[in-house]
Amino acid sequence: MSEFKWARKDLLGLRDLSKQEIELILDTAKSFQEVSDRSVKKVPALRGKTVTNLFFEPSTRTRVSFELAEKRLSADTIHIASSTSSMVKGETLKDSLRNIEALKVNIVVMRHPSSGAPHRMAPHFQASIINAGDGINEHPTQALLDMFTVREKKGKIDGMKVTFIGDILHSRVARSNIWGLTKMGAQVTVCGPKTLLPPSIEKLGVRATTDLREAVKDADVINLLRIQLERQKESYFPSIREYVTAYQINQEVLKLAKPDVVIMHPGPVNRGIEITSEVLDGPFSVILDQVTNGLAVRMAVLYLLAGTSQREEKVAE
Ligand code: CP
Repeated sequence: MSEFKWARKDLLGLRDLSKQEIELILDTAKSFQEVSDRSVKKVPALRGKTVTNLFFEPSTRTRVSFELAEKRLSADTIHIASSTSSMVKGETLKDSLRNIEALKVNIVVMRHPSSGAPHRMAPHFQASIINAGDGINEHPTQALLDMFTVREKKGKIDGMKVTFIGDILHSRVARSNIWGLTKMGAQVTVCGPKTLLPPSIEKLGVRATTDLREAVKDADVINLLRIQLERQKESYFPSIREYVTAYQINQEVLKLAKPDVVIMHPGPVNRGIEITSEVLDGPFSVILDQVTNGLAVRMAVLYLLAGTSQREEKVAE
């Protein structure tokens, strides 16, 4: 592993991270991977530290993965969901965090429907803030686990052709991956209906196309994104049936891809829409490996941030 040292208090997105910082997280995650294969799946790295998981949007993978990562690192953990927090009584996010901070929490993992919410909070608190998904902006740990999986399956990220298909416009996963993958030397293509491709997306250094066949044929990795109907305020395509006809990955489309292509998806999957069950459960799919790798990546992020925590630790003599 490189001698480079982590210096940031927070992990808010991959837009701000350097290639060296991304490599450090991926290398640290590699060293944590074997912890989950031990009979006693625990290390003392975060003993005495407290982590609060603050989730204001539904989550299965990210929430469980962070909670398990915290437990495997021996941290004390608290989970707060929006429906059971005092925010339903009118308390602001900042006031909620001030109360959490008063309890000497070291790290806050935050998922929020507003883009930029963790970025606005981070400068006001000593606790480290990890962005677990903010609106349509970024989902850095998802992109890091995606990159970890690309490196694991393909041996490298540099030079890999990675294609994202689906609702790019509303995807924080695509956005974080674009920042990260382009810094790591991958060639990124985004594909979907024109209405779901952000205008000027090419300025981020990616190729954009509405042609599924063109997007699939050279790809080393295909990362599928679900249509985020919950974030869509208007109709972006005529019907789900037409979307399926034009953009679904099925056995026929897969015949156009490289023989060693890998199929990824951040989840949750809408079976039968962006992907058929045959492909989802088939030999090219590494979707559950992504989930497994997410645990090691989140352990790495928590471990690195705990080392730069600005909270004074007063140890009793
Ligand atoms: N990939 C992802 O963020 O999934 P969840 O919404 O289930 O956490």
